[in-house]
Amino acid sequence: MPSQKEIEGYKLELLYSKEKIEEAVQKVAQRISHDYQGKHPLFLGVLRGCFIFLSDLVRSIKDVPLEVDFVQVSRYVETTGGDVQWVKTPPPCSGKDVVVVEDIVDEGPTLSFVLRDLHSQLPASLKVCTLLNKPSRRKIPIFIDYGVFDIPDLFVVGYGLDIEGRFRELPEIYFLK
Ligand code: IMP
Ligand code: MG
Repeated sequence: MPSQKEIEGYKLELLYSKEKIEEAVQKVAQRISHDYQGKHPLFLGVLRGCFIFLSDLVRSIKDVPLEVDFVQVSRYVETTGGDVQWVKTPPPCSGKDVVVVEDIVDEGPTLSFVLRDLHSQLPASLKVCTLLNKPSRRKIPIFIDYGVFDIPDLFVVGYGLDIEGRFRELPEIYFLK
């Protein structure tokens, strides 16, 4: 597989191969399988970037009966100065063991908004699982319980992540040059 490609004027450089992603997702799935023995967690994916990661993750979790649902938020820095709004609100989470699943945690407002709402519903537990984490960009502190990769300040696409709606379908993760 070439480590660089140019598609529609975007220069993409390989960051993580399919194999590397699979191996790292398996490891996190094993930790979650261990931690949720005897429980019945609700995996709450944050659309749309989570869809590929979440589907690989839940299929790798062993011997834990679980449920999957989604929330969706929008954050338009241009028009609202970065305010986050619901596009799809969470299901009832009171008393549940909730695991929020994100594609990437960047500055933090998106996840912080979602967590604040979920907290107010009094779940039995509330944890965060993210495919990617950019700690150097954080403006709002967020504790990540299950992180697959910490990355530097790069803009990444593939494996669910997009730029202007493109590249979600790529099996690898690339950064934009
Ligand atoms: P935050 O509120 O700044 O943490 O923004 C997180 C959201 O911004 C993620 O859920 C992504 O949708 C988007 N985002 C941040 N960094 C990237 C990136 O490198 N590639 C694609 N989307 C990103
Ligand atoms: Mg996202």
